[in-house]
Amino acid sequence: MSVGGQAPLAQSPPLAVYPGSFDPMTNGHLDVARRAARTFSRLVVAVVSNPNKRPMFALDERVEMLRDACADLPNVEVDSFDGLLVDYVRRRGATLIVKGLRIVADFEGEFTMALLNRKLAGHVDTMFLPASVEYAYVSSSSVREIFALGGDISEFVPPSVLRAMARLRGKVS
Ligand code: PNS
Repeated sequence: MSVGGQAPLAQSPPLAVYPGSFDPMTNGHLDVARRAARTFSRLVVAVVSNPNKRPMFALDERVEMLRDACADLPNVEVDSFDGLLVDYVRRRGATLIVKGLRIVADFEGEFTMALLNRKLAGHVDTMFLPASVEYAYVSSSSVREIFALGGDISEFVPPSVLRAMARLRGKVS
């Protein structure tokens, strides 16, 4: 299947899972999803339900924003999961996790998670995509903070997120 004029690599694994909290998704997340979609035949963007955390956006809102932002990527599916990531990956019949790496500080946590996941499920491996330089400094937490302090986040998030955050601001103010 051709995505944005570029076919996936001939021998690429059929399905990769790109998991995250996506609270909210940023243009950096979207960039990783787009590039992974060019590399793998199918990509599932999997939003964790993290029941122990109090996310800014409910699970279904995060899924909806991602679906809107990925609507032009025909080989990308947006789904959600709870429990262990490796169990979800297994249920989906995948063997590969994709994660974005922004800055060196990301590496330690991501590397540990990749090793843990491989320990939990030996057939599941992780591939890292380096963030594009223009998004390397954009994180969900900084977007949340800038938003909470009244700053402009329009350069950092896709339109679906901007609309949802504007609605949130309307509710709060
Ligand atoms: O947006 P994030 O923080 O990069 O996402 C982290 C995520 C969702 C990939 C991670 O928290 C996760 O895998 N959660 C599911 C629970 C799990 O499998 N934990 C063990 C792996 S260390």
